[in-house]
Amino acid sequence: MTVKAFLGFPSGFLWGCATAAHQVEGQNNNTWSRWERVPGRVHGNHTADQACEWWAGRWAEDFDRAAALNNNAQRISIEWSRLVPTPDAWDEAAAERYRAMLSGLRDRGMKPMITLHHFTEPLWFADRGGWTMDDAPAHFAYFARRAAETFGDLCDLWCTINEPLVYATQGYLFRRWAPGKSGVRLMRRVVAGLVRSHAAAYYAIKGVQPHASIGYALHYLGLHSHWPQLVNNIGTRALDRFMNLSFTDALMSGVLRLPGGNIPVPNVTGTLDWIGLQFYHEFQAGLNFLKPGSLFLEYGKPRGMVLGPDSWGGINPSALYEAIKRLWSRYQLPIIVTESGVPDPDDHLRPGYIVESVKAMWHAVGYGFPVLGYFFWSLIDNFEWAEGYDPRFNFGLYKVDRETGERTARPSAALYGEICAANGLSTEMVARYAPDLMPKLFPNGKP
Ligand code: BGC
Repeated sequence: MTVKAFLGFPSGFLWGCATAAHQVEGQNNNTWSRWERVPGRVHGNHTADQACEWWAGRWAEDFDRAAALNNNAQRISIEWSRLVPTPDAWDEAAAERYRAMLSGLRDRGMKPMITLHHFTEPLWFADRGGWTMDDAPAHFAYFARRAAETFGDLCDLWCTINEPLVYATQGYLFRRWAPGKSGVRLMRRVVAGLVRSHAAAYYAIKGVQPHASIGYALHYLGLHSHWPQLVNNIGTRALDRFMNLSFTDALMSGVLRLPGGNIPVPNVTGTLDWIGLQFYHEFQAGLNFLKPGSLFLEYGKPRGMVLGPDSWGGINPSALYEAIKRLWSRYQLPIIVTESGVPDPDDHLRPGYIVESVKAMWHAVGYGFPVLGYFFWSLIDNFEWAEGYDPRFNFGLYKVDRETGERTARPSAALYGEICAANGLSTEMVARYAPDLMPKLFPNGKP
């Protein structure tokens, strides 16, 4: 039986890729640039000094690539440390470069989304106390206001903070990322500072651009309990509430519920126009009383799933549907998939990953859940934080040769380009790029 079906999306659906300033620009001088200088912190002692050379001008050719993949949107981040090099400054030359990039996206038919904070800060901000400072929200709001004033004619889609809880746990609990601190009390203060700063940035942008559409990006972990489930469910539920719900709940209720107790966060409710969902992996979790430093919790790889490298967990793209459904039922806010991708240098998994994710999203849209767009992580291989340029963590639709900087399309680039052009996924695309998935995605010949 030949199966023929087309899984179409609503018109105006955003299809793009996502990148982050520090991971692609090069020549930065921020908290991560300082962190990378110390040997042993990043795989191979790599630094992001070169990255993908966007600051040196290669953004233009990479935006051509995104346009060639029929992207109609693109999520980039702007670097706070460049634009606000000292507390009350605004660097016009840096702003001009970002204006050129944003115009470059629009000229190529792509709607920009700007992320304000993607894991890096100016050194002056960190050295004064970072997110624990009482005036952290005011500093972040200054950046947001100036950005809206400067770029508001080119962009009205804003993501304030990328994955606040990943940032807070990696940097203030597990010591894997800048600033490499460890302590539950400190981490709690950082998360509270991020909640307040998100809201302050929201009001700052709306003050300049009332029609702006503003969200933040949530890293959603698929979680399952270790055996014995009855005991470990306690830990898994706690982890789920903390990582998947606490930040958004705080923005809805004004109370931040964290391990160690609740923190009131006044004047933050109603500061989300949409939720950015970042969906990558699933873990098995449970309690481990020998690990106080990780909140007595432990992650493992789920059984029976395709597994990613090192600590990546299991790869299960169809569970994107469950994540969307849960966020919609809980918050009744539109959802944009602001990141979704897979570490896969040889492109063995990526085509299947893309078609399964798109099918899951189509399923969600079909149930009436308002999903507005999908941003694939990532357009090109880039600097993957503590993993540096370790090829096992290559996420790009385009492979980047680290010696020459040459970009080569992986097969999944063409697939994603076809999906974006068609505003949907056809059985014929699945048959060509991921034939093994035909029975799973179209059992009995139906989607
Ligand atoms: C982050 C990206 C990162 C990607 C892949 C996301 O959590 O926002 O910066 O490169 O995951 O690990």
